[in-house]
Amino acid sequence: MEALSRLLRALRQRLWSGPGAPWPRPPARGCSGGSDYRELCARAAREPGPFWGALARQTLLWDTPHHTDCEGDFARGRVRWFLGGRLNVAANCLDRHAQHSPNRVALIWEKDEPGTEERVTYRELLEMTCRLANTLKKNGIKKGDRVAIYMPVCPLAVAAMLACARIGAVHTVVFAGFSGESLAGRISDAECKAVITCNQGVRGGRVIELKKTVDEAVENCPSVKCVFVAQRTANKVHMGSRDILLEEEMAKEASVCPPEIMDSEDMLFMLYTSGSTGKPKGIVHSQAGYLLYVALTHKHVFDYKQGDVFGCVADIGWITGHSYIVYGPLCNGGTTVLFESTPIYPDPGRYWETVQRLRINQFYCAPTALRLLLKHGDEYVKKYDRSSLTALGSVGEPINREAWQWFYSVVGEERCTLVDTWWQTETGGICVAPRPSEKGAEIVPAIAMRPFYGITPVLMDEKGKVIEDNNVSGALCIAQPWPGMARTIYGDHQRFIEAYFKTYPGYYFTGDGAYRTEEGYYQITGRMDDVLNISGHRLGTAEIEDAMDEHPAVPETAVVGYPHDIKGEGAFAFIVLRDDTAHPEIVSKEVKAIVASKIAKYAVPDHILVVKRLPKTRSGKIMRRLLRGIVTGNICDLGDITTLDDPSVITEILDTYEKYKAQHPTL
Ligand code: PRX
Repeated sequence: MEALSRLLRALRQRLWSGPGAPWPRPPARGCSGGSDYRELCARAAREPGPFWGALARQTLLWDTPHHTDCEGDFARGRVRWFLGGRLNVAANCLDRHAQHSPNRVALIWEKDEPGTEERVTYRELLEMTCRLANTLKKNGIKKGDRVAIYMPVCPLAVAAMLACARIGAVHTVVFAGFSGESLAGRISDAECKAVITCNQGVRGGRVIELKKTVDEAVENCPSVKCVFVAQRTANKVHMGSRDILLEEEMAKEASVCPPEIMDSEDMLFMLYTSGSTGKPKGIVHSQAGYLLYVALTHKHVFDYKQGDVFGCVADIGWITGHSYIVYGPLCNGGTTVLFESTPIYPDPGRYWETVQRLRINQFYCAPTALRLLLKHGDEYVKKYDRSSLTALGSVGEPINREAWQWFYSVVGEERCTLVDTWWQTETGGICVAPRPSEKGAEIVPAIAMRPFYGITPVLMDEKGKVIEDNNVSGALCIAQPWPGMARTIYGDHQRFIEAYFKTYPGYYFTGDGAYRTEEGYYQITGRMDDVLNISGHRLGTAEIEDAMDEHPAVPETAVVGYPHDIKGEGAFAFIVLRDDTAHPEIVSKEVKAIVASKIAKYAVPDHILVVKRLPKTRSGKIMRRLLRGIVTGNICDLGDITTLDDPSVITEILDTYEKYKAQHPTL
């Protein structure tokens, strides 16, 4: 006990005690996270409860401190952190900073219109949030109610998330590129009582009809009692009986709203993501553990210091936006950029012009954008001043060496730390990244590398045994709970257990494969299940197939991933036509339109190949593995085909594919 108290005392002295306090403070250059990285990792692994408990007390603003650090385990798939603790996430992200530094800039909104920006201070964001929170309350939204947010990246979207957090409502942000049908599916599953949207969005100079899509979606969603509509453009849109002009109503409300005090484990938000089977799942994150984890990872992976401008160019509709545009930076009292545009609007210099104008210090983006930009040459980068940059980050998909090198050398002028960060919607925040690390430790290009404190990665072999050696590949699991992990799938805890804790009992299975190098670093090799990663966005092949199956002329479909120059991975679809009279080109076009309207444009397969039949096992299961082998050029390595019903199907499909490939040289 005495040793534990000593450890905690030492930890408390060293651990971060608010924005700007030193722990573990990496030097401005290089990749170190402090000389005691190993020691802290070992402590976090040995005593996770006290380790995180001390950090929670030091980092967050509590109404009531917690009495129990952690409860539960992976065996039961139920983990809870900081029990007995009570707090409000919005108060943590706003009030304490607004009190001390009301005029500090919280948000810099880089609008779609080139060269335009708007700054929002902590005082202003707090007021905006309170007015919005009061508007929600006035319209009957209360603690525990679910609210869908379907908005572009803008200050009101952030205020909407924080307003929900302030009154204890649960937000579910839906990426504004999703179709009406996808939005409706999410609203129905979450039984949302309200939707917050904009009249229109603007992206890359194009107007996006958000309100129209919401109208389509809510038509079949009886749970929705009101739709709040903010004005992003000057254009009028149709307003129905349950529609409410958001800014008008907010103006009538008080700019003060007392925060609802929440239990640590109450739901903060849910975010839908794709799995290998079935419909997207509503991943649930809770209050205290999530907030603590994203604040600490934001601070230590990027070496974020008070006064820095943090530029994460993701969309708030994804977990990256939640954790590293909104909750992490704001909990740390930081200044965070909201990037509404695209990397190539008005030209491929947009990111770097923004870096120059806003003096961004940490820049966090997806490899897809880098692959696209590097094709446009270095001039678009070099003509802008990037001297403010200290750290670069990559997220969402494996970063290839060429993109890594370009980012590091051309964008970062070989003086910025580049962190390839691996994590998932389910993990809440970054789990593996080159930083923190030991002082002076190296960074290996294009490898996520090191676990964050308290993350215990393990690799499993095919038999489900932990692999101890280095220089091996295996299924990436995490052995020990951490505060930022998801708590459940909304409305289906059994699915949560089955998806993450059944394959390797006692471990969290990530769904990814990884290679552990000689030195013990982790390199993510990609999904091991039927989940695609298109431009860093997760999509289940089953989701795309289900949409394509809606076409009356298409009885059977199979979708697999194939390597794509820019997107990293693209979707390749095989379809069988019901009869020979159907015109393949017309059907393909219609199938693509169905996918766009049922899911989103980015889910539309790049290629649709009509085949006579699909490879199936004798019991009738489609063998996607063989199709993947064909489109990835691994036909010599198709694995076991003894269960295949009729092996001649392989040569038949291969012939058709070769002919198609001859007509599509980019494949
Ligand atoms: O396959 C991994 C890939 O993205 C998946 C998680 O997707 P999502 O939940 O949408 O979250 C994306 C943003 C965190 C993972 O299972 N992935 C994410 N980061 C990396 C990655 N693959 C390789 N390297 C990464 N750095």
